[in-house]
Amino acid sequence: MSSSSADADAPPSISGELPTDAAAVEALIDRAFGPGRFAKAAERLREGRSHLVDLSRVARADGAVAGCARLWPVTAGAAPALLLGPFAVDHAFRHRGLGGALIRHACEAAAGAGHGLILLVGDEPYFAPFGFCAEGARRLILPGPVDQGRVLARALKPGAADELAGEVRPCLSPSTPGPT
Ligand SMILES: CC(C)(COP(=O)(O)OP(=O)(O)OC[C@H]1O[C@@H](n2cnc3c(N)ncnc32)[C@H](O)[C@@H]1OP(=O)(O)O)[C@@H](O)C(=O)NCCC(=O)NCCS
Repeated sequence: MSSSSADADAPPSISGELPTDAAAVEALIDRAFGPGRFAKAAERLREGRSHLVDLSRVARADGAVAGCARLWPVTAGAAPALLLGPFAVDHAFRHRGLGGALIRHACEAAAGAGHGLILLVGDEPYFAPFGFCAEGARRLILPGPVDQGRVLARALKPGAADELAGEVRPCLSPSTPGPT
């Protein structure tokens, strides 16, 4: 295991990301995705912007970062939404349900803060058990080439993923979620 990785024997716990986690989270994302992370269409929604640190979730083991799920404010057509990602678990901690737990915690944090909709780009077979599906997101347009079947949406409020259509853009005023 590299010195930048968490101790695989330590049981991970999930909590909010802290500003002091930034370097360790970036290192984890680099290990998980490599330089290709910056070519992704979703990255066009993140570059030059800040994620919502208080809603983003980190898994820690023995004080080190073992996983992350970040949330970013976007708009999906006319609808306010959050974009989930990068989402990664350190190799040493995979296949234990930690990824799923991070997704559940991030969704709970978003719902608790009043948000109604989460988007991500990922494999539907993995994310469907957490309520994400491609069908509701099929008319959304991301800023770059993407397999439309990997654009997934989850409504946190009834109807929030109904009739989604239009461009997904970074949100310029992320502070307060709307009432819907
Ligand atoms: C995806 C990732 C976060 C999952 O972390 P994890 O802690 O292993 O997740 P879980 O333990 O909750 O689930 C693991 C299961 O999901 C399955 N799975 C993982 N990626 C999958 C995918 N893309 N499609 C379908 N199933 C997938 C695995 O086969 C595994 O099953 P197994 O444990 O029976 O072998 C981790 O593999 C990772 O960091 N990958 C690199 C970064 C990445 O691809 N992130 C997602 C981009 S949207």
